[in-house]
Amino acid sequence: MIIEVGWDPFDESLKADPHPIWKRLRDEEPLYRNERHDFWALSRFDDVDAALRDPVTFSSAYGTVLELMTEHVQTGPLMIFLDPPEHTRLRRLVSRAFTPRGVAELEGDVRNLCRALLGDRGDRHGLDVVADYGAVVPAEVIATLLGVPPEDRAEVRRHIDGSFHLEPDVGMANPTAAASWTWLSEYITDQLRSRRARRRDDMLSDLLEAQLVDGDGSVHRLGVDDASVLALLLISAGTETVARLIGWAAFLLARHPDQRAALVADPSMVPGAVEEVLRFESPSPVQARRTTAPVVYYGTTVPAGSKVLLLNGAANRDERRFPDADQFDVCRGTDLHLAFGYGVHFCLGAALARLEGRVAVEELLARYPEYDVDPEGAVLLSTSTVRGYERLPLLV
Ligand code: HEM
Repeated sequence: MIIEVGWDPFDESLKADPHPIWKRLRDEEPLYRNERHDFWALSRFDDVDAALRDPVTFSSAYGTVLELMTEHVQTGPLMIFLDPPEHTRLRRLVSRAFTPRGVAELEGDVRNLCRALLGDRGDRHGLDVVADYGAVVPAEVIATLLGVPPEDRAEVRRHIDGSFHLEPDVGMANPTAAASWTWLSEYITDQLRSRRARRRDDMLSDLLEAQLVDGDGSVHRLGVDDASVLALLLISAGTETVARLIGWAAFLLARHPDQRAALVADPSMVPGAVEEVLRFESPSPVQARRTTAPVVYYGTTVPAGSKVLLLNGAANRDERRFPDADQFDVCRGTDLHLAFGYGVHFCLGAALARLEGRVAVEELLARYPEYDVDPEGAVLLSTSTVRGYERLPLLV
């Protein structure tokens, strides 16, 4: 008897471990149709990779989260929801402020922060490696990078946390999250206004000063409102995802103590281990798109105007691409995975995420070369944008 493959992205029972069903999709229904929620899904590496590189056919401009997609093209400065050429212009402007050099210069600060967070607690006072560490690092780092003054950082971080608050049935659409977003938006707008009056050496100032000259000589700059939306995008895209990465790293290394021991003995292997964590448990495993023209997969036509989910988390486990894809192997030696997406929307913060992930793992292992995780206290979170641990107490 053939049992039809059914994948429902909202099914709680599949969230803990979607990999078996994603494997069935890859093997049995590489083009999957879900009538109930009206979407198609691609799960094989080559298909997801090609679709991510084709923003003309696979548009981001109707939204990239299934339940938040719109019938009409979105406007505004949220570049993740724009197609070229509007996307290209904004991305260039933000990239002027968010440079690889600026990111590399943060390493010392990130390390000091990690050490302080790990050092604050006595050895046996159960550290929650996500709530007390993995989630704190990116929120603090992005606040520092943007130029939030030290005296405001605790409050900003409290609202960053609040902005991700979830409630049953309504998810992120709840009053606590909305109030924190409003607070952050007003705060960042105020900070930008003060930079207009007097620049500082920080990313908020750089965002306002970045300029782009088009072929016809016209000059583009960001106004305070657009710069504020983009700063909020960096906060939202760069906090939850990195928290999940650090949580997955701590979890997977606890499950593979031999591989962890190899990293402790030779920390130069940590960057490769971070790539393997990203491949094996991709923190942001699903990206939605809308087709602008009919496309044919495996003999079936996906009409123009369809919602298509690109399962980059499933593609990263595709045996056609990665031998023994279901084996976690810190020595695998690949960075060609799709955890950061691909093509024009390739994660703008990838270098920062890699830096934070590497330093957080190095410092965790330096402090706790051997630990276990407490399954009783572990809480897995799976929203429409991220999947990973929200709470993960260490046993040391
Ligand atoms: C492990 C951590 C991270 C993961 C797994 C991740 C994943 C992703 C993915 C999959 C995309 C592509 C979305 C799409 O194709 O629709 C993306 C885009 C983006 N990410 Fe990240 N991200 C991470 C960290 C960060 C950080 C630290 C920042 C910045 C502080 C950041 C900022 C962005 C921005 C601005 C975009 C939109 C780029 C564009 O539309 O051109 N991300 N990220």
